[in-house]
Order: sequence, then C-alpha cells, then structure tokens
Amino acid sequence: MAELPSDFWTGWIATITVASLAGLGWLIYSVYFAADTHTEQDSPVWDGELREGAHPAPLWWFWLIFVSLVISVLYLMLYPGLGSHAGALRWSQGGELESSIADFESEFGVARRLAAEADIQELSQDHALMASAQRVYDRNCAVCHGYDAKGLTPYFPDLTDDAWQWGGGAEQIEQSIRDGRHAVMVGWLQVLGEDGVDQLTDYTLALSRGAAENHAGQTAWMQFCAACHGPDGAGNPLLGAPNLADGVYLYGDDIDAIRHSIAMGRNGQMPAFGERLDDTQIRLLVALLTPPTGR
Ligand code: HEC
Ligand code: HEC
Repeated sequence: MAELPSDFWTGWIATITVASLAGLGWLIYSVYFAADTHTEQDSPVWDGELREGAHPAPLWWFWLIFVSLVISVLYLMLYPGLGSHAGALRWSQGGELESSIADFESEFGVARRLAAEADIQELSQDHALMASAQRVYDRNCAVCHGYDAKGLTPYFPDLTDDAWQWGGGAEQIEQSIRDGRHAVMVGWLQVLGEDGVDQLTDYTLALSRGAAENHAGQTAWMQFCAACHGPDGAGNPLLGAPNLADGVYLYGDDIDAIRHSIAMGRNGQMPAFGERLDDTQIRLLVALLTPPTGR
C-alpha cells in the first residue's frame, strides 16, 4: 500500500509533532516567565511618553495553552499519533473491530454453534430459532418461492408439500440450498413427433390418475421416459426427475403445460446459496423446510 507512510515519513511526522509541541512550550515560557529579563529601560519610547508595553498576555491564555499542551502530550503517549508509535494503550481501529467481533461471538456464538450441531427435528421445534430461520428465508428465498413457501406455478416449486423433486430428506434439502439444482430434460418433439408427444402426454395424465395400465403409450414410456422418471413414474431424486404419478406438477397440471414440457423440455434452476449463507443459516433453513418425521 503505497499511500501508507513509510519509515521516512513516520520519522518526519514524529519530528514535526515533537518540534511544534516543544516550540509551543518555549513560546509560553518566553512570554510568561522570561519576560522579567525585559526591563522597562529596554523598550523604546515614542513621542516622549508612549512606551511599548512589555505586558504579558492575560494569564488565562497561559492556562489554556498549557492545559492543551499537557493533553496533547498525554494523548500522544497513550494513543497512536506520533508517526508509527502505537501508543501505550495499543488502541487501533482494527483492534476496536476485533473486540466488537469478539463481543458478538461471545453473545451469539454459543447459540449459533448449538444451532449448527443440533438435531434437525429438535431445531424445528425451537420457536425462537425458527423465527430467525423465517427471516433468513424471507430475505433470500421468498422472491421465488413466496413468503408462504407455496411456490409459484409454473416456475418455482412449492416447498410445503410432500412432493420433493430432489428429495425431502434433510441432507437432500441441504444440498439443494447449498449447491443449487439444475434440472435438465431435453425436448422430445424431434424424437417422438407430434403424435408421439400427444400419446405420452396422455400417458402422463393417465399415470397421475393411476390408469396407465395397458395404455398404448407404455412402450414409448419404457423406452424414452422410464430411465429417469421410473417405470411407474415415481421419479428419481438423484436426477431431479419429478414424480409424474402424484398429480403435482411444477409447470402446471393442464394438458398444454404437460405437452409443452414433453415437447420442448424443461430446465429449472435453483441458485446455489453455499457462498451467500453460512452453515448455521443453511441449517436453520433446512430445519424450517424439512417435513416432520412421521408425516
Ligand atoms: C434424462 C432424464 C429424463 C428423461 C429421459 C425424461 N425426463 Fe421428464 N423430466 C426430467 C427432469 C430432470 C425434469 C424436471 C425439469 C425441471 O424441473 O425443470 C422433467 C420434467 C418432466 C415433466 C414436467 C413435470 C412437472 O412437474 O411439471 C414432464 C411432464 C416430463 N418430464 C415428462 C417426460 C416424458 C413423457 C418423458 C419421455 C418422453 C421424459 N419426461 C423423459 C428428466 C427426464
Ligand atoms: C431465483 C429463484 C430462486 C430462489 C431465490 C430460490 N430458489 Fe429454490 N428453487 C428455484 C427453482 C426454479 C427450483 C426448481 C428447480 C428444478 O426445476 O428442479 C428450486 C428448488 C428448490 C428446492 C428443491 C425442491 C424439491 O422439490 O426438491 C429447494 C429445497 C429450494 N429450492 C429451497 C430454496 C431455499 C431455501 C431458498 C432460499 C435460500 C431458495 N430455494 C431460493 C428457484 C429459486
């Protein structure tokens, strides 16, 4: 950092400071104490009786200057100011910051460490912690998933239902938040043609009604779709391939939306929050979103 004073400037600043303080000291000494050497005979006389007065300035000036001088010297002994001299109290802005961080740590550090280690189910029972989790959620997630976390068709999934595209376990939810998710399904129009897309749209709807047995689309389903969505349409959380048999659709449950998904593909993206939130905040969010066991 070139703009910081080098040793030369440091020495120079210290010299100037000390010299000015010494100069000030000499000045008040010479005005108030050495004045006695100045006899009336030395002063010139004008116009017969006008004599240049050698009267010292009022005494309260002396005290004012003297007290300021003492305060300056004390200040420079205690605090940084004299070149690079750190001062007896070793005060610094960085030090102030460090100690206020230490205060923060001792005040909230324990609660934060407990939160980072506690069991997810226990955390989700703690009302105070869940209130802070809700604040983290409101600030970071509500723009997309909504303040009620019910999502927004056709882009942002409902986080309060039982349908989890990427898995509803604590670890899977944590991974969704920390690393983000990028779902990829290519469009099938090229492969299947319009008729094939229609047939599989109908098959998908039949799946959600539980009426896919002996459906004409079954062969194509097994060939093109089952690898990701599963033979029974239950999906695969590892790929983010949603369950198509549960009647919950991210992109809408009407026939046009489903047809569009199949024909053109989809690639939903959940941004990663691992850099923006710390471990405790992520853990609180996981506790907020993880469904209670036994549900
Ligand atoms: C490579 C794996 C893969 C294959 C193969 C695949 N899908 Fe998908 N599918 C996905 C993924 C991943 C998503 C989620 C996309 C998203 O969230 O943006 C998806 C989403 C969908 C959706 C939208 C679901 C919703 O919630 O709105 C439908 C409908 C669908 N797939 C049907 C099909 C059909 C029919 C086939 C066979 C022609 C098929 N998929 C083949 C991976 C696949
Ligand atoms: C920019 C919009 C956006 C923001 C902000 C966002 N998300 Fe998401 N999130 C998405 C989208 C889109 C998906 C669905 C991705 C897909 O198609 O698979 C998603 C998926 C998820 C999933 C997986 C859902 C499932 O069914 O498996 C979780 C969990 C999640 N988000 C939690 C959060 C949390 C917690 C936050 C706040 C820290 C957050 N999201 C912020 C857009 C967002």
